[in-house]
Amino acid sequence: MEIEFKRLEKDHLDQIVTLEGLCFSTPWTRKMFEEELQNDRAFYIVAIMEGLLIGYGGMWMVLDEGQITNVAVHPAYRRQKIASKILERLLAKAKENAIEAVTLEVRKSNLLAILFYQRFGFYKEGERKQYYSKPNEDAWILWKKTFLT
Ligand SMILES: CC(C)(COP(=O)(O)OP(=O)(O)OC[C@H]1O[C@@H](n2cnc3c(N)ncnc32)[C@H](O)[C@@H]1OP(=O)(O)O)[C@@H](O)C(=O)NCCC(=O)NCCS
Repeated sequence: MEIEFKRLEKDHLDQIVTLEGLCFSTPWTRKMFEEELQNDRAFYIVAIMEGLLIGYGGMWMVLDEGQITNVAVHPAYRRQKIASKILERLLAKAKENAIEAVTLEVRKSNLLAILFYQRFGFYKEGERKQYYSKPNEDAWILWKKTFLT
């Protein structure tokens, strides 16, 4: 089945909000995604298969630093490298914009996401205590400071 990767648009908002609810315990709201569409520093990629939005990822770019906001794939479509293809596109955009380092926060119990990011050269450099709710949990701060994966 062919998967298209494209920039997030207004028409995707209903589906991205639904996907968000499936993937996170404190999902972003429609308003938050609407704000991202207005944010010149935000870059969002969605994965679409036969009209169905099955994954997305986003990043903010400020000066020479990138911050991954979220990467999520519909539970029925995981482990098929969809998140990898999304992250590759975010990192390519970062490179194009002369970003030197990319960071993100992840729940410290989210081992599979940590493994996923490690494959792309992210490593732990710090923690934020009690950063998350539902359940309360610390965040690990991951960084990628080289684009030589
Ligand atoms: C994390 C997430 C985005 C991965 O999406 P995905 O499309 O399944 O990931 P990929 O198929 O590209 O996986 C790439 C690699 O990541 C690691 N990985 C991903 N899922 C894994 C799992 N369930 N168990 C172990 N390793 C895993 C593996 O190294 C995998 O490579 P492999 O399949 O060759 O072993 C997805 O599980 C998800 O949406 N989780 C909920 C939201 C979330 O936690 N997002 C991350 C925090 S922002």
